[in-house]
Amino acid sequence: MADRQIRLYYKNVLADVIGAEHGITKEQLDGLSKQITPLIPKIKDEITGGATRYGLLPADKQIPRLVKRLVRKLKPKCENLVVLGIGGSALGNIALQTALNPYTWNLDYNARRGPRLFIFDNVDPSQFGSFLDYISTRLGRTIFNVISKSGQTAETAAQLMIIQKLLTAKFGAKRLKEQVVATTDAKAGTLRKIADYYELPTLEVPEGVGGRFSVLSAVGLFSAAMTEVNIDLLLAGAADISERVTNPDFYKNPAAVNAAIQYHYYNRGKKISVMMPYSYALKDFADWYRQLWAESLGKRYALDGKSEIFVGPTPVKALGVTDQHSQVQLYREGPNDKVFTLLEVQNHGRKLKTGPAPKFAPELDYLARRDLGELFNAEKKATEYALCASNRPCLTVLFPKIDAYTIGQFIFLYEATTSYAGALFGINTYDQPAVELGKQATFALMGKSGSYEGATYEKFAENIKSQTKVDETCLV
Ligand code: PA5
Repeated sequence: MADRQIRLYYKNVLADVIGAEHGITKEQLDGLSKQITPLIPKIKDEITGGATRYGLLPADKQIPRLVKRLVRKLKPKCENLVVLGIGGSALGNIALQTALNPYTWNLDYNARRGPRLFIFDNVDPSQFGSFLDYISTRLGRTIFNVISKSGQTAETAAQLMIIQKLLTAKFGAKRLKEQVVATTDAKAGTLRKIADYYELPTLEVPEGVGGRFSVLSAVGLFSAAMTEVNIDLLLAGAADISERVTNPDFYKNPAAVNAAIQYHYYNRGKKISVMMPYSYALKDFADWYRQLWAESLGKRYALDGKSEIFVGPTPVKALGVTDQHSQVQLYREGPNDKVFTLLEVQNHGRKLKTGPAPKFAPELDYLARRDLGELFNAEKKATEYALCASNRPCLTVLFPKIDAYTIGQFIFLYEATTSYAGALFGINTYDQPAVELGKQATFALMGKSGSYEGATYEKFAENIKSQTKVDETCLV
């Protein structure tokens, strides 16, 4: 399978290419190797048990079996699949759909062999409302997959309560168990309670696997399998690279090298990490990476839970070639405070030739009868060259092609890279305590009752209201 492996290319971060002021010397890289090599067995243990168990997912046979069983039951009567979730309960689903199904999946009946797929990770009433208008005449052949580990997430709970109202009004509450699938904690939580009450079919968010590391569990696999993604191949890709990302030899371990380079640059003042896929299919994986990197690495405290360190690289998504005409001016001439990761696909799987150049426009001759993929990849190389010319460090992840196997590798490569980076930064990679305050403030503002932090939600709401009251003197 070596010819189907994704690879990390790091030459364009080296001092030989971009100069010593911004590049990494051989000695510095050897120093990073010495620092990270002892962490490799520790990370291996960490990702297969203990703090997080996402490392067990590629080899898990039970999860895909249960997912496929439910898919076989539901798919024949499903024309529309609607995923309701947020954060780690949606971004992987979106990314898999964009990467592995045709661009026109929802539009073209002939292009798809499964239901249309809609994924809602927001509570914008205008967006969700217009979707409900569309779906209300198709409700009978629609399955809703509600994904929430806790079931307490306000956004997902509110979406579910709207759907529940709609389905109950139209078909009666008994129908919920035919049209709503709950993906949630095996035993505890609000969604588990709801699922038990309405006898909903359920899938599990595995114990010990955090939301942003859960795409290879039932969280991501169900909507993928419903839309004909080969989930076995996806898991096989992840399993393939799991050996490489736990290789004790630093120089053969793409996750260790990736994390080390990112960490090194952060400490040299390059605190922004840009991911720029040269592939529309990978566009939403840049978004998935953004959450993985930000929630995992943006931390106030060191591992002791007391020392304040306020670390975290800022992940930024861009899209090649689109952002060449939007961001590259800044990337080359703005502050040299970024590390770039370009994603390159060698075979786009489709040949699309241009026609001849008009006789009166010989300046377009160079584009005549050329393949669009060739232009796409030339532009990637051109941008890489231009970034290097400005001494900007640039990594590339090389994909031989986009399929479930290479996507599985990419997911696991970045999950493991995040684990190594978290160990280097000396933080807890797997929690997200700073998300909590906003969640609790929302509960308070929406009138939740009960106690919060030694007082009541009512009191908390009063404080928030007085602090966020619009001050007319600052309104221009
Ligand atoms: O990565 C995470 O843990 C978060 O992004 C969660 O996935 C997100 O907050 C949704 O949580 P839940 O699945 O409990 O609704």
